[in-house]
Amino acid sequence: SVGLPRHVESMPRLPSGNGRISRLSAVVLGEALAAEENDLIFPSPEFSRDALVSSPEQYRKMYKRSIEDPAGFWSEIAAQFYWKKRWSPDVYSENIDVRKGPVKIEWFKGGITNICYNALDRNIEAGNGDKVALYWEGNEPGQDGQLTYAQLLDQVCQLANYLKHVGVSKGDAVVIYLPMLMELPIAMLACARIGAVHSVVFAGFSAESLAQRIIDCKPKVVVCSNAVSRGAKVINLKAIVDNALAESANNGIAVDLCLVYENQSTMKKEDTKWQDGRDILWQEVVPQFPTKCPVEWVDAEDPLFLLYTSGSTGKPKGVLHTTGGYMVYTATTFKYAFDYKPSDVYWCTADCGWITGHSYVTYGPLLNGATVLVFEGAPSYPDPGRCWDIVDKYKVTLFYTAPTLVRALMREGDEYVTRYSRKSLRVLGSVGEPINPSAWRWFYNVVGDSRCPISDTWWQTETGGFLITPIPGAWPQKPGSATFPFFGVQPVIVDEKGNELEGECSGYLCIKNSWPGIFRSLYGDHERYETTYFKPFAGYYFSGDGCRRDKDGYHWLTGRVDDVINVSGHRIGTAEIESALVYHPHCAEAAVVGVDHPVKGQGIYAFVTLVDGVDYTDEVRKSLILAVRTQIGAFAAPDKIHWAPGLPKTRSGKIMRRILRKIASKQLDELGDISTLAEPSVVNQLIEFTDR
Ligand code: WTA
Repeated sequence: SVGLPRHVESMPRLPSGNGRISRLSAVVLGEALAAEENDLIFPSPEFSRDALVSSPEQYRKMYKRSIEDPAGFWSEIAAQFYWKKRWSPDVYSENIDVRKGPVKIEWFKGGITNICYNALDRNIEAGNGDKVALYWEGNEPGQDGQLTYAQLLDQVCQLANYLKHVGVSKGDAVVIYLPMLMELPIAMLACARIGAVHSVVFAGFSAESLAQRIIDCKPKVVVCSNAVSRGAKVINLKAIVDNALAESANNGIAVDLCLVYENQSTMKKEDTKWQDGRDILWQEVVPQFPTKCPVEWVDAEDPLFLLYTSGSTGKPKGVLHTTGGYMVYTATTFKYAFDYKPSDVYWCTADCGWITGHSYVTYGPLLNGATVLVFEGAPSYPDPGRCWDIVDKYKVTLFYTAPTLVRALMREGDEYVTRYSRKSLRVLGSVGEPINPSAWRWFYNVVGDSRCPISDTWWQTETGGFLITPIPGAWPQKPGSATFPFFGVQPVIVDEKGNELEGECSGYLCIKNSWPGIFRSLYGDHERYETTYFKPFAGYYFSGDGCRRDKDGYHWLTGRVDDVINVSGHRIGTAEIESALVYHPHCAEAAVVGVDHPVKGQGIYAFVTLVDGVDYTDEVRKSLILAVRTQIGAFAAPDKIHWAPGLPKTRSGKIMRRILRKIASKQLDELGDISTLAEPSVVNQLIEFTDR
């Protein structure tokens, strides 16, 4: 028999109608319920006429085929890519049922290909060498650049040749810690070209977090930049990398080579600390290498990249994606979810440090031969109209962002939007957290002038690409619903016992069977892979999200049911924040929960007990927040520290997070039964400490 992991046993936020839904879910669902009855938003006939999928019937037909004959469906699509050798014998083989043995998933096994070749060379051979592949917009308005497909390939090849020259070969890890410069996708593609495994670390992570990832994947090289500007701030990235490399060396992982791209508009090399012998200036070496670099042909199941992401417990885990299935899946989901046309100009505001930037800044769009905008800066700098200024400047047609940005801009008023034309926009996209119907409507009505369908794409680092997403033009939309599954994806909603629920229902969101883009393992820990994702509900992939299906079959995501939170679309585990807090010498114990936040979606709320003899002061509070910033990164800084002379625990010592969530969200009349606590009096004490 398989035991349920702790986070499932405690079942904190099951989104059922039994009064135990979280407040965020209640808000989203409440708004949604009112909206969904009457509010179907239909695509215009013109949009549907030209759409890749123009009716529910067409969707149903394609979907049915994808489920009944996945091998046929996906192999026809895969055949549009270049394979040095075709896969054999099977299109896919899978075991995702832990009761039948180890979880193993393979797609296009035996097929020999290269994702960089398919993204660049193949598109150039098709006559698109002079098409713009990347536009770059810098932090300051007026700073910009661009590369055609042919120019991008040249740059990728130069870096690939340099990496080979310094000894990077197939299967070696390369850590990339770059801001949103064109060099970031260039570095990813250069690794892919030579079969190296990239691990991009979001350049907002601290030295500690970067070191942790370096120690785990032991890269041959770290590629970084000296600095980045975000709005009015300059961030010295190289100093962070220096600290991380020192920390890794202390842990026995010495990296011999750090390739540094000088971000000239931000900080000069002279102002950057340099370690001779280890640090090499990109601009000095890379341009000297040839612009042709032969491709390293790899098996479809050879690793493409590792991306660390947060779970309910423990350290971040290295999500491992392989080549062939990921390639086919990101390309296909991009094409359909954005109704991609060759004339489109596409802008995704996500950073390549997160999965969205992997699948939908770099690989998915470039595999389609799309023109992609890369933006270095902050979306409301120099003012909250910047996004729409950029949209007009580049005639962006597809704009993909997170609800947190939509809500932040919505607060600034419509004038920042309406002063720009935005005529070019065709499709809008949303990702990272549930989009509440009022933000959806503002996005739709104000930004998109009630003309552009919204693709609310539900997916995860682990899934590689979209699993539940509107296909614009196919269906009428419901504000706040991610609508229906992508081709080949079979979502099921189960109750706590793992029974599949039918019709209108809510529960845990699982997926039956594999799809080409699913991750294949957690780096170095296949057991954790099985335990976290395949054991909670044997026979299924468990997403960690709650979901409700309405009477028309539309899906409404209700947020995480485990101890992972989505803060401004950034995923973080409460356990990671707790361990950063506890690391502080004054902190005895910490418990972190997510609370509703009007802009961020969820805010970080930390209950902290100090060690005996330390006073609860503002100064200590500040230094605790600083501890989290330095251990993880600024985006993980708690919004609130709530002093907790005691924490509510069961007699066996388990912290009752359910009660903490209620106190944090001030739902004091919903505390529930507290008699099972070892010391019920701590609850009143905590309530008293709310505003201290
Ligand atoms: C949440 C980001 C509702 C969800 C691509 C998931 C969403 C987690 C949506 C994964 C959406 C992402 N609607 N919730 N459209 N998209 N999520 O791994 O809770 O950073 O489990 O991947 O984000 O976050 P991750």
